[in-house]
Amino acid sequence: MNKDIKKILIGEEELKAKVAELGAKITEDYKGKDLLIVCVLKGAVIFASDLIREINLPLDIDFMAISSYGNNTKSSGVVRILKDLNMGIEDKHVLIVEDIIDSGLTLAYLVENLRTRRPASVEICTILDKKERRTAKLDIKYTGFVVPDEFVVGYGLDYAEKYRNLPYIAVLKEEVYKG
Ligand code: IMP
Ligand code: MG
Repeated sequence: MNKDIKKILIGEEELKAKVAELGAKITEDYKGKDLLIVCVLKGAVIFASDLIREINLPLDIDFMAISSYGNNTKSSGVVRILKDLNMGIEDKHVLIVEDIIDSGLTLAYLVENLRTRRPASVEICTILDKKERRTAKLDIKYTGFVVPDEFVVGYGLDYAEKYRNLPYIAVLKEEVYKG
């Protein structure tokens, strides 16, 4: 185990099984539909790359990078698009793939923004949901795990851009934050 880790919340095998289960559901739900996976950079990269290999359908993938104004611990709901999609989404069934939903403000903005581009549908798939911190109204179609209000890293999620490559979801030791 990495020396900065206090405890593992969700292990590799558990992640793998859940991603397979989500992929199977998505395969059922999107049969015959023009599916576009929108991966939100950077956190969702690991999850999205595992998930698309569990979806047994033809699909497109595109990337978006967004940053929310505000401080590091609270998002304000005002979102800046750092990298927009390369492709148009008109008449496509868009599935946004996210690492974690906290307040939900970032995603609420993103969903509204994408809806103005006239897709056939927009839904959300997140591997983690910090449900107790939700302030925005958001319908999440696919959720991997509900997690407690603790700062987590790994499987794409970072602390100061590090730990994204850990193969599990973990809680950091306090001394790592305090430096
Ligand atoms: P929201 O707008 O409050 O839902 O912000 C969600 C974003 O905050 C996620 O996409 C992450 O980038 C970040 N975030 C929230 N909680 C955590 C965490 O526990 N670990 C790492 N990143 C987090
Ligand atoms: Mg993120």
